[in-house]
Amino acid sequence: MTAEREIIGLRRHLRESGIKPELRGLICEIAESTKYVINAVRTGDLGLAGTSNLYGEEQLALDVLSDNIITEQLSKCSLVASIASEEKDIVESVHPDYKGGYSVAFDPLDGSSLVDVNLAVGSIFSIYKGDNILQGGRKQVAAMFVVYGPRTSLIYSAGEGVHEFSLNHLGDFKLTRENIQMKDLGNIYSPGGNRNKYTPEHLNYIKYLENKGYKLRYSGGLVPDINLILLKGEGIFMYPELIGAPNGKLRLLFELYPVAYLIEQAGGAASDGKQPLLDVPVDNIDQRAPIYVGCKNDVATAVEYLNGKE
Ligand code: AHG
Ligand code: MN
Ligand code: MN
Repeated sequence: MTAEREIIGLRRHLRESGIKPELRGLICEIAESTKYVINAVRTGDLGLAGTSNLYGEEQLALDVLSDNIITEQLSKCSLVASIASEEKDIVESVHPDYKGGYSVAFDPLDGSSLVDVNLAVGSIFSIYKGDNILQGGRKQVAAMFVVYGPRTSLIYSAGEGVHEFSLNHLGDFKLTRENIQMKDLGNIYSPGGNRNKYTPEHLNYIKYLENKGYKLRYSGGLVPDINLILLKGEGIFMYPELIGAPNGKLRLLFELYPVAYLIEQAGGAASDGKQPLLDVPVDNIDQRAPIYVGCKNDVATAVEYLNGKE
């Protein structure tokens, strides 16, 4: 029986992983901010905010409240040079003069429309060194997401593996999984989008998976859907190009780069159907892209189908 790893907290895990003190501090600040988002999700107003985001989507009060909570926490943190939020139209400069600073791109509440039907939702964060938020996916120095579900769990990687922490009743994130690794091939699929708008190539791949007996698992919430694929370690999540929407729906900066970083760190793969997702160049903050992410052999097969395999 191997000695049980002492149940350690997020701050100690970061320290023992040899992560730089400034980056450790920032990850802990982000983790702290999500505790207030949890409270908002559990007790907040579920109605519309009466505003819309940079994609022209109606914002829920929870979207705006979550964005304000995280923005306020990051703005007070001297480690942050600039921030970009899915709920804001522009990149905000926080402490541009701080040379050792980091920039954070975040989706403050992903899947917010699922809160009023009591499904799991989450917050997604992507961290870059310096004050430029548009450096591209390979320049991320860390990524994390928090799942507000039956458990509140936090997944992070700073380039040394992917680790899960669960929030305990004392309000501490305690290590529950370390060095999460995905299998090469899975048996779960999340197809994404609307079937009547699938391209023939995407439809062919979905039919291939169905014929192989893959199990359909799709909640409509990116964070819990990705968390399932990551923790089960066996499957593929997709949000494809759709007829009329060649770049799909999901946002490169706020959703896809951090998700792709985490899955690659866990031994999986992520593609936009043509190239690794982390290599997709980012030109503006509202850029979208298709995504195929999960077990590397599943993603490789998806790319073959998207490029004409029958
Ligand atoms: P957000 O709530 O941040 O706008 O993101 C919702 C996303 C993501 O959670 C999910 O994968 C996708 O929307 C589902 O979109 P459809 O409802 O159009 O399928
Ligand atoms: Mn989102
Ligand atoms: Mn969102």
